[in-house]
Amino acid sequence: MSILVTGGAGYIGSHTCVKLLETGYDIVVVDNLSNSNIKAIDRIKQLTGKDFPFYKYELCDEAQTEKIFKENDINCVIHFAGLKAVGESVEKPLEYYDNNIVSTLTLCKLMKKYDVKQIIFSSSATVYKPGSPMPVSETAELACTNPYGWTKYMIERILTDIAFAEKQWSVVLLRYFNPIGAHESGLIGEDPTGIPNNLVPYITQTALGRLEKLSVFGNDYDTHDGTGVRDYIHVQDLARGHVDAVRYAESNTGTTAINLGTGQGYSVLDIVNAFEKVNGVKVPYVIAPRRAGDVATVYANPTKAKEVLGWEAEKTLEDMCRDSWRWQKQNPKGYGTEE
Ligand code: NAD
Ligand code: UD1
Repeated sequence: MSILVTGGAGYIGSHTCVKLLETGYDIVVVDNLSNSNIKAIDRIKQLTGKDFPFYKYELCDEAQTEKIFKENDINCVIHFAGLKAVGESVEKPLEYYDNNIVSTLTLCKLMKKYDVKQIIFSSSATVYKPGSPMPVSETAELACTNPYGWTKYMIERILTDIAFAEKQWSVVLLRYFNPIGAHESGLIGEDPTGIPNNLVPYITQTALGRLEKLSVFGNDYDTHDGTGVRDYIHVQDLARGHVDAVRYAESNTGTTAINLGTGQGYSVLDIVNAFEKVNGVKVPYVIAPRRAGDVATVYANPTKAKEVLGWEAEKTLEDMCRDSWRWQKQNPKGYGTEE
């Protein structure tokens, strides 16, 4: 019996593969490598000393994907695969709806055909209506502001409807807050293509000197220092949450949505200051105008994760800053460098 990990060569997927293998699960990984590198797969194997089947397949291609179900005894799917750049999704909505929705439909059709009934889905805090009261709970109103977010919203709906019709299915919708950090070895981490959009990769590349300075988007928000507040979560805590979700899915049916966050908000300047202090490096920055679409504060109410999965975040902001920097220092060009 194996867990099929879609998007397992990606940032969160690769860390989760390591945790699953360490826990004793067998895995099968599929990724078209559209936003990742085959070296991530090699490093998962290196870190765990374990081998597993890897398919460089396109999930939207039903015939290809069916081969994976035919050749392996799959009992659970963790579905990370998807396009995730918010700005790009506004420019290319068709590509986002096509890739994210069609891949999920293909996967679900094959799950039904091959009698696979458990799926853990990578959703996002972005499904919560902007302006929701903080900390935000799973029962808050949902609404999105961009096609990427709507794909998450729609996939949550699709999976919920399937689990309603197929009473033996178990669907766990994990709503991640802001994943940062990397494996403690520095061997796997986040490897964004081009200039990073997200805060921490921008900081690490600035500290390295690849980027000149960080623009802090707005210092006039209603927060303790005027800069935006988010719930940053260590990718290793997030990965562990998936192992707990798999265990939950093994013994429960129906659909449940669960926040994976720490419940603690930090501002942009909190992150910059912690990063400089922990790592003894400078992160030059300027205050810039607000970024369109940003809100002042987003952080999770994480109590359901504790009640339902027995999971809570353990890593500190210092751990996140130290591990992000170790990965970046050891891999200045991400997976693009190899001695
Ligand atoms: P990532 O881009 O590193 O990983 C996604 C992987 O999916 C990539 O390796 C990509 O090559 C693969 N992929 C995409 N479309 C595919 C397809 N059609 N067929 C096969 N493979 C395909 O992203 P990540 O940061 O690891 O995120 C994983 C999931 O979590 C995504 O669904 C993302 O939307 C969601 N999520 C991420 C964040 C975040 O901040 N990183 C926050 C909330 C939710
Ligand atoms: C972004 C995505 C969101 C996704 C989340 C997790 C957008 C609009 N939203 O959220 O869908 O779920 O990532 O990965 O892209 N900041 C700067 N300077 C920078 C970059 C960011 O000041 O160069 C600030 C932002 O204004 C924000 C904070 O840092 O206050 C975090 O930004 P970011 O890492 O992009 O994450 P989110 O905007 O929270």
